[in-house]
Amino acid sequence: MPALYKHRFSCSFLMSASHIPHHVAIIMDGNGRWATKRGLPRSMGHKKGAETVKEITRAAGELGVKYLTLYAFSTENWQRSPDEVETLMGLLRQYLKSDLQELQKNNVRIRFIGERDMLAPDITAAMAKLEADTAGNDGLTLCVALSYGSRQEIVSAVKKAAALVKKGDLQAEDIDAKMFSEMLYTQAMPDPDLVIRTSGEQRVSNYLLWQIAYSELFFTKTLWPDFNKDELTAIINDFKTRERRYGKN
Ligand code: FPP
Repeated sequence: MPALYKHRFSCSFLMSASHIPHHVAIIMDGNGRWATKRGLPRSMGHKKGAETVKEITRAAGELGVKYLTLYAFSTENWQRSPDEVETLMGLLRQYLKSDLQELQKNNVRIRFIGERDMLAPDITAAMAKLEADTAGNDGLTLCVALSYGSRQEIVSAVKKAAALVKKGDLQAEDIDAKMFSEMLYTQAMPDPDLVIRTSGEQRVSNYLLWQIAYSELFFTKTLWPDFNKDELTAIINDFKTRERRYGKN
């Protein structure tokens, strides 16, 4: 196990998180580099990355995580080459068609966050069906961020609040952080306890900006297609040693 993940010295046991993170959010990065390193087209990195999505969903449930949010496609990703966008949409279609049995078997509830009107109608229909078909599952909630951008999400929540105020259904002075959270796509979900980004990049890239105010961040050099249950377990063990103070002393 890399030294980085070994339990760090913590001066206050009582203040350490000491338990499994309830909600883990992941920025799945490095598919392209994984393929390029092997002389393969980028599409092969995404294909292998989609297999890792399945492995990590299973692992998160087995480890006792209750919410797993995966950044599968950002609003900025629409600017990639038409070929690459098509590859990603193809993998998504495949996933939406083929994964129901596996999700049911593992008692996983799925939900999607992001701007659905940017996606093709057959994709949004399959998303809605998968959400409905798994709505009764009470194991892990898998939240897939698709055509997702956090600034857009926040702007859309502001618009919702403004419309309610304009209609007279809400007083501006009654808006608080809790109410605002309920206007985001992640409505009714707890904030992430832990955010992991693979591939060595140390950025949050317009991901859950409101929701990660007090999340613990973890950056690993591993490329997403190589990420696995052992590394997720090691990162969770590191999380357990962290002191979470939420701004208090
Ligand atoms: C970032 O790697 C990854 C993405 C933009 C897409 C993530 C998609 C998947 C893991 C597969 C499809 C998902 C589902 C849910 C079926 P990158 O392409 O930016 O890699 P690079 O930085 O090395 O170029």
